[in-house]
Amino acid sequence: LFRGGTNEPWPLRRAVDRLNEKRTARFCMPGHKGKLGAGTADDWTELPETGNLYGDAGPTAASEKMAAKAFGAERCFYLTGGSTQGIAAALGLCRGAGEALLCDRNCHRSATSAMILYDYRPYYIKRDILPGFGISAPVDPMRVKEGLERSGAKTVLITSPTYYGVVSDIETIYGICRDFGARLVVDCAHGAHFGRGGLPPAPWKLGADITVASGHKTLDALGQGAYLFTTLDFDPSSVRKFTALTGTSSPSYPIMLSLEASARRLSFYGDELWSACVERCRRLSEAIKADTPFAVLDEGEYQGYYIKCDRTRLVVSAFGTDTDGYELYDRLYSAGVILEMCDKYNVVAILTPNDGDDDLRRLCDGLIKIGRSVKKKPDPVQQRPTDIPKAAMTPREAAFLPAASIEADSAVGRIAAGAWGIYPPGIPVIQPGEVLDEGIIALMKKNGVKAVEIVDIEDVKQKNITGGKQL
Ligand SMILES: Cc1ncc(COP(=O)(O)O)c(C=O)c1O
Repeated sequence: LFRGGTNEPWPLRRAVDRLNEKRTARFCMPGHKGKLGAGTADDWTELPETGNLYGDAGPTAASEKMAAKAFGAERCFYLTGGSTQGIAAALGLCRGAGEALLCDRNCHRSATSAMILYDYRPYYIKRDILPGFGISAPVDPMRVKEGLERSGAKTVLITSPTYYGVVSDIETIYGICRDFGARLVVDCAHGAHFGRGGLPPAPWKLGADITVASGHKTLDALGQGAYLFTTLDFDPSSVRKFTALTGTSSPSYPIMLSLEASARRLSFYGDELWSACVERCRRLSEAIKADTPFAVLDEGEYQGYYIKCDRTRLVVSAFGTDTDGYELYDRLYSAGVILEMCDKYNVVAILTPNDGDDDLRRLCDGLIKIGRSVKKKPDPVQQRPTDIPKAAMTPREAAFLPAASIEADSAVGRIAAGAWGIYPPGIPVIQPGEVLDEGIIALMKKNGVKAVEIVDIEDVKQKNITGGKQL
């Protein structure tokens, strides 16, 4: 399991193999003692042979060095808590540069959690919406410049690619950040495979100071396996201090081994595997476009935007037909074809070198079959991007104040206690600490929201609490 090829094993695999070959009597964690089958044999704890994920020496550190080389990054750190752990570590590492964070509004909830954890004051970069798919356009680098002028932030967080595979111009954004003396963190959770087989270049090769990438989303790693890439400017012990801060003290060896094997397979076969995957995805897209009424997201000029995207992320739009993304997803699901996600207009499939020809055929045939029963319909009016609401307090202040659930109609003018958004575009409409205006409440009601979680200011006043920080 997790050998990643036939050549000489890498350090962690070798260490675990050697330990497995010894006749040990295990009176240490995990409780299965490695006796419950193949899945448990590699599941060890920290020992002199296996080393410690949060230490700078031993087989894990040696394995991370080899992984850094495989990815072409300056430094690489393994994470067993997904990109979620990596985003928290990245924002923890940068917090010393100040509380202001210039953040892509298209950020994952792990970014909001890290803002709460490290007490950031966010300033958001708005994104446009791509008509037809309803998903967000790439980040406009000029908005990063304006945001840096406005906020004075020394940390910038950009999501690239998005869940739908849309890539932003990281090279230009990095140049702007450097001019302002700000660090660039890229949430590349969906792009661990970038830089291979003609796919977009990886952010860690375009200057990004810190990049977080989920090995489990597009590479071969087990669920929760992710990588944190940094430049040489970050001292490894400081990075480990922050990965450990939210990481488990019992990191999973099977996950670490899978991260190692994944990096190893990429270093030996990455280009050939991923260029073949891109080609299969191209053929699949062509067939869908030719034989169904559906549109497929492609690279190129698109209604005034130049779109670069991950050509292995298949986004099929039912826009302008009498079906929708939910129905497409359900009908494919009933036929045993399970996609990554769906929204009102689209279905999204993640393709990797591990898909079989038969699986791709089932997906294609399924869409063609559904397409036959679908009729064209005039385009509905699409959602416009909402303006970024006024913030009354930071996400952390909102998180620590008492919250109450009230009827949506009475929530106009109140402060949101949590985040809320819709797909597409999957961008938070409201974040904790922001003021709910009439437009937002109308949108929530239109999407079936009846009650809204608000910061309970009345409670705060009664208890004579003057601000979130005191709690
Ligand atoms: C854009 C983005 N960032 C971060 C994450 C968190 O990744 P993980 O599931 O590896 O913790 C996700 C998860 O879906 C995501 O979509």
